[in-house]
Amino acid sequence: MIDFQLGGRVAVVTGGASGIGLACAQALAHSGATVSVWDLDAGRVESVRAALGERHHGAVVDVADPGAVQAAMQAVSADLGRLDVAVLNAGVAGVPAPTGDYPDENWRHVMGVNLDGVFHTMRSAVQAMRAHRSGGSIVAIASVLGQVGSPNSGAYVAAKHGVVGLTRAAAWEHAADGIRVNAVGPGYIDTPLLAARIDDAQRAEIEQRHAPGRLGRPEEVAAVTTFLASDAASFVTGAYYPVDGGFLAR
Ligand SMILES: NC(=O)c1ccc[n+]([C@@H]2O[C@H](COP(=O)([O-])OP(=O)(O)OC[C@H]3O[C@@H](n4cnc5c(N)ncnc54)[C@H](O)[C@@H]3O)[C@@H](O)[C@H]2O)c1
Repeated sequence: MIDFQLGGRVAVVTGGASGIGLACAQALAHSGATVSVWDLDAGRVESVRAALGERHHGAVVDVADPGAVQAAMQAVSADLGRLDVAVLNAGVAGVPAPTGDYPDENWRHVMGVNLDGVFHTMRSAVQAMRAHRSGGSIVAIASVLGQVGSPNSGAYVAAKHGVVGLTRAAAWEHAADGIRVNAVGPGYIDTPLLAARIDDAQRAEIEQRHAPGRLGRPEEVAAVTTFLASDAASFVTGAYYPVDGGFLAR
């Protein structure tokens, strides 16, 4: 793991108890940041927090709930004294169905977590960073499906395209506050979210859509995310960084 020198910085990672979010929390902590892990389940939040170590925090937060996000961000500011990094990672896959048959309830759930949740957390992060007057870095975990379509994933594709658009707008809006806003676009990454959706034959087919012929690993997304969080990326804002094994290059 690379040390991106985040000593003294405070980071929030949403969906930090599993997969890519967990790897981001570990990488940020390894680089010296104090991490507040947000997720839905108290037991998983506490076990991740305990594994990260004494100085780190955890909170049960549903990012689809704007009041919960605001309260949790205020608690981070009060308890840890500042906010420097926000990784907007919490996400769900949604049920697979074509748009012509997509159920309202599932559409609202995917949009509520994957797009509204990113908006709620980005807004609260900007407010916290502005209040502390020390700038910051916001990294939204989008997807290759924030750039291209995919069948039976309309809500997910729409939400992830929205995340990339919001990132680009916010980068311009908040540059004067010293806040950088970027998006990361993972290809297919070996996490519980993906494992729950595919069988072995689908996995083999998906692997071949990546030039190395394999799925990505959560820590490979975390490495780019931690770079973007750090001062090494001081002139990077409004960007979409693929971590996709060449998926979009073909
Ligand atoms: N795995 C992939 O192939 C892949 C590819 C591209 C993008 N992504 C994106 O990466 C992010 C993380 O995905 P992952 O594969 O690590 O999934 P995961 O299921 O392993 O982890 C997601 C975490 O988010 C949490 N979460 C879900 N809804 C939440 C909510 N409302 N509030 C707070 N936390 C919530 C879950 O409890 C879980 O711990 C998602 O935004 C996903 O869309 C994943």
